[in-house]
Amino acid sequence: MEEKVKSSLFSAVQPSGAVTIGNYIGAIRNFARLQDEYNCIYAVADLHAITVKQEPAALRRNTLELMALFLACGIDPKKCILFVQSHVSAHCELSWVLNTIAYPGELSRMTQFKDKSAKHAENVNMGLMDYPVLMAADILLYQAALVPVGADQKQHLELTRDLAIRFNNRFGQTFTVPEGYILKDSGARIMSLADPSRKMSKSDENPNGFVTMGEDRDSILRKFKRAVTDSDSEIRYDPEAKPGVSNLLTIYHAFTGKSLADCEREFAGKGYGDFKAAVGETVADALAPIQAEKARLLADKAYVNSVMNEGASAAFRLARKTLSKVYRKVGFYSGE
Ligand code: TYM
Repeated sequence: MEEKVKSSLFSAVQPSGAVTIGNYIGAIRNFARLQDEYNCIYAVADLHAITVKQEPAALRRNTLELMALFLACGIDPKKCILFVQSHVSAHCELSWVLNTIAYPGELSRMTQFKDKSAKHAENVNMGLMDYPVLMAADILLYQAALVPVGADQKQHLELTRDLAIRFNNRFGQTFTVPEGYILKDSGARIMSLADPSRKMSKSDENPNGFVTMGEDRDSILRKFKRAVTDSDSEIRYDPEAKPGVSNLLTIYHAFTGKSLADCEREFAGKGYGDFKAAVGETVADALAPIQAEKARLLADKAYVNSVMNEGASAAFRLARKTLSKVYRKVGFYSGE
């Protein structure tokens, strides 16, 4: 039988604070699901995190915690490469080369750059603007065909594709042009529980808007109980007319695996109070084993460190191949 060559897949999450159920549903949950089908490479994007101010001790802690969370969510280091972005210097090296084919105009047009510049007006640094070029380097170094991300990363992926095509056109075929793996249903964009017109975000100043992966049961139940719905009482999936209810149905669907239609049927005729309590219970039940596994892993820091160190060596070997090719193509003298 002919063996199918697996294609590569890359994604990363920033260790910039607590990870929310939005990050989990839109991205991390899919990481483990894809590990049998693809050669998966997942990173903790610490280089990206410092584009907004981080407290150094917290950044160190969050990096370790995020690596433990990846493992607790079922990502298997025997099947995937798991590493910390700053441990593989090729990311910065390739982003320098890509900078020379990226234009300030296209970078300053990025929605995330505009949002973050407005939010961190006191710290609009070059790194914030260059963020998507580093992200392109992450993806292109591993010749990734697929990139599982939430809907908010779509524009950055488009730029990655543009840069890959631009480089290939100028220097000859070098990079695989990647596709996004973005969920079709609204799981790609989980909304705030407090304001369903806004994306759920770990940096929201209103803590009632988000639920973190480490949150305790009482707090989860309380936040879902307070979740904003609407004034009629019908539990139906309609993101335009009923964004709050639809968001809760999406979360329920994501954590139970039931179809959205089955979720609607299950709650037909029930009141919002019962509905919100059921969603909260489901989320709390689903997070409990992940939290327990993460705590167990953090008690064995040597193991988590060994996973990230082995991952960095494996990532480096792959990254070096692409970087050497790029250096050759642009005309750097090798000295050999
Ligand atoms: P980060 O850490 O901001 O987000 C991690 C992932 O979570 C997704 N996400 C969401 N999905 C659904 N609903 C939400 N409310 C929600 N909020 C966040 C994000 O889309 C992302 O997939 N730039 C990346 C990190 C990165 C990266 C990469 C990703 C660095 N290099 C290369 C892919 C490939 C980011 O925003 O991470």
